[in-house]
Amino acid sequence: MENKTFYITTPIYYPSDKLHIGHTYCTVAADAMARYKRLTGCEVMFLTGTDEHGQKIETKAKEAGVTPKQFVDQIVEGPRGVKDLWKLMNISHDRFIRTTDGYHERAVQRIFKKMYENGDIYKGTYRGKYCAPCESFWTESQLVDGKCPDCGRPVQDAEEEAYFFRLSKYADRVRHLLEDTDFLQPRSRVNEMVNNFIKPGLEDLCVSRTSFTWGVPVDFDPGHVVYVWVDALFNYMTALGYENDAHDELRKFWPADVHFVGKEIVRFHSIIWPAMLMSVGEPLPKQVYGHGWLVFDGKKMSKSLGNVVDPYVLAERYGVDALRFFLLRTFPFGTDGNFSNELLISTINVDLANDLGNLVSRTVAMAEKYFGGTLPAEREDASGDCELKTMASTLRDRYEAEMEAFQFQNALSEIFKVIDRANKYIDENTPWSLAKDEGRRARLATVLYHLLETVRICATLLTPFMPESCEKIFARIGACEACRGWDKANVWGSLRADVTVSKGEALFPRIDAAEELAALEALTAAQKKSAVELEPPAAESVSFDAFCRCDLRAVKIKDCVAVKKSEKLLQFTLDDGTGVDRTILSGIRKYYAPEQLIGKTAVAIVNLPPRKMMGIDSCGMLLSAVHKVNGEEKLQLMLVDDAIPAGAKLC
Ligand code: MSP
Repeated sequence: MENKTFYITTPIYYPSDKLHIGHTYCTVAADAMARYKRLTGCEVMFLTGTDEHGQKIETKAKEAGVTPKQFVDQIVEGPRGVKDLWKLMNISHDRFIRTTDGYHERAVQRIFKKMYENGDIYKGTYRGKYCAPCESFWTESQLVDGKCPDCGRPVQDAEEEAYFFRLSKYADRVRHLLEDTDFLQPRSRVNEMVNNFIKPGLEDLCVSRTSFTWGVPVDFDPGHVVYVWVDALFNYMTALGYENDAHDELRKFWPADVHFVGKEIVRFHSIIWPAMLMSVGEPLPKQVYGHGWLVFDGKKMSKSLGNVVDPYVLAERYGVDALRFFLLRTFPFGTDGNFSNELLISTINVDLANDLGNLVSRTVAMAEKYFGGTLPAEREDASGDCELKTMASTLRDRYEAEMEAFQFQNALSEIFKVIDRANKYIDENTPWSLAKDEGRRARLATVLYHLLETVRICATLLTPFMPESCEKIFARIGACEACRGWDKANVWGSLRADVTVSKGEALFPRIDAAEELAALEALTAAQKKSAVELEPPAAESVSFDAFCRCDLRAVKIKDCVAVKKSEKLLQFTLDDGTGVDRTILSGIRKYYAPEQLIGKTAVAIVNLPPRKMMGIDSCGMLLSAVHKVNGEEKLQLMLVDDAIPAGAKLC
């Protein structure tokens, strides 16, 4: 039989900040899908990566005082960066593409030229609205209250010479693709796309920029860089060797079986991407699945909202498998899900500690206790056990149907129905009573064997979600390699009759919810405290001579009063060592009560020309330290050791 292939992708992530639990969500889902397909015998290509060009990265790098490449290298390859996160989360991608990889950049140049040569890319003038943080162009009609419909930030008018892609030419074919095929899932996303983008009329898309340089250069027109979305979308093909020799799997894996993408980038994947593929004459991906967001109190996670949840912290506290499981068990993949710590803890306690964990540990403990770990081969008539047997041995079909539709939550819920049934089966059969009756040993062995078989089937199907824990479960229930496979997941009786179990520590320890929530709150508060934003280092240097010309002196604060009618100013009377009082006004009233500062030693620049404020001459400036905590400006007056005499020069 020919080996079936399966090609799945995640979006490639912007390394403009560290990734959070929202990004982790999609990658974990794609990983579960890839592992499931491997389990079923498919040859899988699972691609993820990073989307590293564009204005946002260029700006961030500048702010950090490094080159864009150094900036992205740090976030992608550095400690606790993107690659580390995927390693931690046990992501089994087969390939990781960076759009700064040379082979990809050169391929993008060729692709751009191809579309230029076939007439689908032409030169024009771009006039429109541009959202720099999102690197998205919008038409007037797409703006929401005049702002970017994605992030709500202000957009800028922009006009410049640019290349355009003839998106309008493909409007009818794209509409047909969306409305008449299963290309875009879930179906609800089709209406969004057709009503919001296709019906108002598809305009040609601006696909080059000249206002920044961090991108793939248009090789036949220096000064233009390729629009980051054109560069990014083609990653799905260049990673397989399209227009390059670095890889050679295009024929094997293209078209992709599915692109998993968040709902806000469905437009790019279901309209622009197919149109560009039509232009270059390549087959379209079979499906795009637009999943929902993980939200926090109804809002998308984002650094600017301060609601980013750190997957490192959660994985360290609860374990990677518990976190992976929680993400896919709790939220339906197609719609938004409200993340909360309470939900995370209760899912771990109820599903993993109570239901699954207990089933495994009770079953193994009873096999140890009553049979020394190895079941005797004799059995008793088990016709009364039909329900559990049937439920477990037909589980694979129900699970498969849900997995094929990317309904992870439903697939897990099918498994947990069987786990619940098995726990009920223990209560119905009370093995502890059977154990008291020597004549019922065969019945006792039968009951335990049925429980072990149920656990084996459930663990096989749970493997894509919790690979490490399922390995442990297999070891506990004595499942050999051969009975862990997909082909055995619907065959009752695959474990040896005289199976040997082995006890171990609790797989999913129960969490004390109240204690844990308090600890998490304390942690969040501590993190908030440390969420300090600093001014970026100055871009320009000053000469040493210029610096030396600033006369910095220690000054004693003799008096300090609020300036009348000013909300900002404090008036300082200072001893600067000259014997004549110096007056300086400083706009720090909101940070200090005046009397708090009297008697302290501060630092002033004393050779600035006097400046009149509120009718008072201010002769110099007091130095302060400034930073932001969670967006709020903080200031501390520079106070120095009181042993320093007034007038001492600082150098
Ligand atoms: N670079 C583009 C993708 C290019 S693909 C050719 C991009 N990157 S991103 O880093 O901003 O987002 C990557 C994915 O993470 C998107 O699918 C986005 O929806 C997803 N998520 C970001 N925050 C999320 C949540 N809070 N919840 C779920 N997914 C979220 O877009």
